[in-house]
Amino acid sequence: MIVDLVLNSAKAYFRNEIVDCSLAIDEGRIWKIGKETNMPQTDERIGLRNLLVLPGLIDAHVHLRDEGKAYKEDFTSGTAAAAVGGFTIVLDMPNNDPVTMSPETLRNRMSKAKREAFVNVGFFSEFPKKTKDIEKIVEEGAIAFKLFMAEQVGGLDPDDDSALMEALKIVSGLKVPVAAHAEDKTALKAAVEKLKLARRDDVEAFLEAHTDDVELKAVKRMVKASEQTNMRVHFCHVSAENGLQAIVEAKKAKIPVTCETTPHNLLLSADDLRRIGTLALTMPPVRDKDSMEALWNGVRNGWIDSIGSDHAPHALGEKAGSVWNVKVGIPGLETTLPLLLTEVKRGRLSIGDVVRLMAEKPAEIYGLNGKGSLSAGNKADLTIIDLNKKYKIDASSFKSKAKYSPFDGWLVVGKPAKTFINGVLVFDDSEIVASAGVGEIVRRA
Ligand code: DOR
Ligand code: ZN
Ligand code: ZN
Repeated sequence: MIVDLVLNSAKAYFRNEIVDCSLAIDEGRIWKIGKETNMPQTDERIGLRNLLVLPGLIDAHVHLRDEGKAYKEDFTSGTAAAAVGGFTIVLDMPNNDPVTMSPETLRNRMSKAKREAFVNVGFFSEFPKKTKDIEKIVEEGAIAFKLFMAEQVGGLDPDDDSALMEALKIVSGLKVPVAAHAEDKTALKAAVEKLKLARRDDVEAFLEAHTDDVELKAVKRMVKASEQTNMRVHFCHVSAENGLQAIVEAKKAKIPVTCETTPHNLLLSADDLRRIGTLALTMPPVRDKDSMEALWNGVRNGWIDSIGSDHAPHALGEKAGSVWNVKVGIPGLETTLPLLLTEVKRGRLSIGDVVRLMAEKPAEIYGLNGKGSLSAGNKADLTIIDLNKKYKIDASSFKSKAKYSPFDGWLVVGKPAKTFINGVLVFDDSEIVASAGVGEIVRRA
């Protein structure tokens, strides 16, 4: 047996511990993990001294844009950013132009991404207008449905209870999870109208509209819906302490809910937002120090299942002005892993936590079989990191089209060094070294 490639002198996160080992890769898959002396013959060897191999990390919350929003980001730039950031799979959100909410829109995105992506990509769909299309969308390979509760994005009004319950019963029957952006549309709209009448349009007004209670109200509604339909709900970007608490209660009551938070909600406070201004605006916004501490507790004790970047790139010109017109969202693919590795260095997280939050759990929640762990037979999706590399985040060098970040200039320790996608070295040191199209489309099994 002569394999395609052997990675030698590696440390790897394998079966819940860091071990010294080598990895043999053949035809895009991990062929063997074992001692260097037990490796098969090979055409090519790469030494990985001082680097750590993790299972390919999954960012389950990415807005890749493209199509009508390609001026903000496209499949090539977005997935290059993913590879540079150490992600081997990204799940694409559906608020696109056109909105992903039919077999046809999904198929179009899949065929474009297949040609242009550097990493593996799976797709969310919004709910369609006609409930009978839900099953067709799942057959087409959507990973999950997204429910944007803050305003209507897809074919379903999130505040129409009976339509929502009907849709949720169908997805529950199909065993597909629903990812929810939990902010209550009616409460939010009322608050925004009032602030607009008072001629308020500053960051403070945005915070006054997007309160913890707006998030809590939507969380409670979806917890109840999950209880009634037994539908699996994954809460996106949990930001508030009371929202998290409601999710914890639901978990204790064995209601099938899971949740995600983001690096910005963990690391930036409302004071940081006031200082930086509209550039750092996200929905939901970053909150006070107590909320951040509550999120850290949730991460440490496992109540928070996953971390997603919520990579939401916009053109720089869209990031200034009235908070009601500013496009909310920040790029996160190229900062998430270094920021979290810095927290590993500080002792707030372990490598095991990083793997659980960004590989194992996302794979489990979204049913990505054969992903999220290093195991012989799995596709060779590898995130290889240098835990000791110190550098300053420089947004101007991002592969993303969005070349700004509230973390610009932050000193971080820990950097993605190489990213393998399906056995192909895509990112090496600081460069993309493969051609677009190595990424595969990930479909729901
Ligand atoms: O900050 C956000 N940006 N929150 C969202 O829910 C949408 C996203 C975007 O698409 O820009
Ligand atoms: Zn969202
Ligand atoms: Zn998002």
